[in-house]
Amino acid sequence: MKRSHVLKPIAACTRRTLLIFSTFFPPAAAILLCDGMLNGAPAASPAAPAPTNEPQGGHESPELSVVAQLGRKMFYDPSLSGSGHLSCASCHSPASAYGPPNDLAVQFGGRDLRKPGLRAVPSLTYIGRTPIFTIGPNSNIADYDEPPQARVPVPGVKIAPVAKADAAAAKEAYETVPRGGLDWAGGAKALLAEADENVPRGGLDWDGRATTIQRQALGSLLDPNGMHNNSVAEVLDHIKRAPYAEDLRDLFGPTLFEQPVLAVNEALFAIVRYQLEEPSFHPYDSKYDAYLAGKATLSAAEARGLRLFEDPNKGNCSSCHIDKPSRDGRLPPTFTDYQFEALGAPRNQGIPANSDPNYYDLGLCGPLRKDYANTAAYCGLFRTPSLRNVATRKVFFHNGVFHSLEEVMHFYVERETNPTKWYPKLANGEIDRYNDLPARYKQSIDAIDAPFNRKEGDEPALNDAEIADVIAFLKALTDGYRPEQPDGAVP
Ligand code: HEC
Ligand code: HEC
Repeated sequence: MKRSHVLKPIAACTRRTLLIFSTFFPPAAAILLCDGMLNGAPAASPAAPAPTNEPQGGHESPELSVVAQLGRKMFYDPSLSGSGHLSCASCHSPASAYGPPNDLAVQFGGRDLRKPGLRAVPSLTYIGRTPIFTIGPNSNIADYDEPPQARVPVPGVKIAPVAKADAAAAKEAYETVPRGGLDWAGGAKALLAEADENVPRGGLDWDGRATTIQRQALGSLLDPNGMHNNSVAEVLDHIKRAPYAEDLRDLFGPTLFEQPVLAVNEALFAIVRYQLEEPSFHPYDSKYDAYLAGKATLSAAEARGLRLFEDPNKGNCSSCHIDKPSRDGRLPPTFTDYQFEALGAPRNQGIPANSDPNYYDLGLCGPLRKDYANTAAYCGLFRTPSLRNVATRKVFFHNGVFHSLEEVMHFYVERETNPTKWYPKLANGEIDRYNDLPARYKQSIDAIDAPFNRKEGDEPALNDAEIADVIAFLKALTDGYRPEQPDGAVP
């Protein structure tokens, strides 16, 4: 073990510490740590060894600091769970871009491993780039240095789709009722401006409730549908008995376990370091990365797919799934703007919690987070996920309702044109549109921007051939592209 690689405890999280961290990364990849914005960065070497599901204990990796090596042991350690059988890697499988290892909408956890989860398991690749949760002015950029101050939304706050819909309605009313006294220009613009001032962004989990990766890790360890420790004390108890307890004492001092809060924090910190340092969490070696670097040419289908992905009247995907590097060109795109949207995914009856007709997963307004329970405009919103490695997934969207990229794409373009395909019928014969949201929140759903701006019976924004092209492009976002393999197949 190289003692020089020992990191200081998180308590000493200062500029100086940041400098210490940055010695492990190329200067361009300095990492902001602390319990604040966490910022991953391109790996130094794209040829990182492929991780496996094998127990990873014991051996050392030259790329990882000692703390991260400890974190790796914890990431793969099932004894940290209440059941004794689940590790982080059980749900975040390294063979599936640290996403779910199977096609189940939700995984099973709890003390007896029989408690179904509430949401689909996200991929953990590139999570280091996730900004902390904030509500602030709209800034359509994929990364920034100084996060704006989080603020409490003003009561009655509008979010963009609602404000846009209201603005459109105001305009229409003005046009159809001449001299109706509606100040369209003023009123509608004010609505849009207000919405633009109150944009929620960032945070970990589908609802952004975990402010930082460190808090997220504790949430995973306590999750009653996941690793289900009954308390932080139980987590600590497991850590103390683990074979790496000695490593923790070595790293953080012989009296560490006499300070339970500090001990748990250091352990969580190690899990975070592993997720940030391990190159396979952020290899940036997809075909699209090679293309951006001028080292690969997209196939005809991929190139057409990229154009459709960016076309504001067709896919319009890149308006949320940003596909351009950061403005200074240093950071490759992560394919998300980290903002929250309500896309109206159909209710997934495959999630047992949904057998209760009164249970709704409303994302940003709860029930898993409580702080915006009374902000109606936030109900039904989920954080836009990264699309890197999305083609390796077998379940899609927060509720895992879709099982292939084809299905996802057809939903995007046919949600409005052919709603009967996606939503059930009510007793009175009407279509129960957006059936995973109570009626009072349905106005949050975006039907103003492409590809949702077509009406029932219209041609979808993308036809089958165009959908195939977009999917070809999405497949170019899978890490592990090796130019010597002509089709870019990922081993
Ligand atoms: C039983 C399956 C399961 C286990 C075990 C599990 N997770 Fe997760 N993880 C999930 C689910 C489901 C979510 C999404 C939760 C949500 O949105 O409410 C998630 C979310 C995350 C996220 C947020 C990703 C993002 O894009 O916002 C991180 C980071 C994470 N898990 C890390 C871990 C770590 C570290 C461990 C081990 C300490 C762990 N997970 C154990 C299922 C699991
Ligand atoms: C208005 C913003 C927005 C636009 C435009 C948009 N997306 Fe999304 N995308 C999201 C959000 C938000 C989710 C998650 C929704 C949920 O879970 O309920 C998502 C989820 C996805 C997923 C599933 C990812 C996963 O891990 O489950 C795929 C694939 C996807 N989008 C591709 C696309 C493509 C392709 C387009 C263009 C045709 C597109 N998106 C347009 C915001 C957007």
